[in-house]
Amino acid sequence: MTRRDAETRGDARRRTGDFVDDPYLGQVVVGAEELQQRVAELGKEITSDYADHPPLLVGVLKGAFVFMSDLSRSIDLPVEFDFMAVSSYGSATRTSGVVRIEKDLEIDLTDRHVLIVEDIVDSGLTLSYLRKNLAARGPASLEVCALLVKEGLQRGDLELRYKGFGIPPDFVVGYGLDVGQRYRNLPAVHRYTGPLTA
Ligand code: IMP
Ligand code: MG
Repeated sequence: MTRRDAETRGDARRRTGDFVDDPYLGQVVVGAEELQQRVAELGKEITSDYADHPPLLVGVLKGAFVFMSDLSRSIDLPVEFDFMAVSSYGSATRTSGVVRIEKDLEIDLTDRHVLIVEDIVDSGLTLSYLRKNLAARGPASLEVCALLVKEGLQRGDLELRYKGFGIPPDFVVGYGLDVGQRYRNLPAVHRYTGPLTA
């Protein structure tokens, strides 16, 4: 396998630089090529569903920035963008469901077709808070596109309109997801086997 092949397959340990000898970076959970393929499919679906009413994409920072960047470029419509930053109280691995808005939207959602773009859904508490919060602002419609959903961990119905992949309930990094702000630029999603501190 050439280095280029390795990169396409998302095997970050074969890349040069900081990730080469990282003992905490585990196996690939979703490869780079798989990600690109699925993102393109989601983009097509969204393009056809929203053909008559292009959506306002609301990205949830910071994790969703990579996914949102790729997804938006596979949507063949004049979409608009806004971003929100939220943090949830709790330990590094578990959200408490109490969410604080660190950065709010700049665009008024009244009568807009809003599509929330999320990187990963774990307990689903962050998302259900966001949904309620944004629904109260009077959008014409409100849907969610989540790239990764940890299987079996959510309380209640998430009503995800678009879902990329269901994954096992392990902690993962890459393609936007971090531990301590690292790993976000990995092209694939990997298991993370190191310590998790807040
Ligand atoms: P939830 O409220 O439990 O669904 O947590 C969702 C948020 O926790 C996500 O938006 C991520 O920011 C973070 N998160 C949950 N699981 C992971 C993971 O495996 N890796 C990185 N971040 C995660
Ligand atoms: Mg997030």
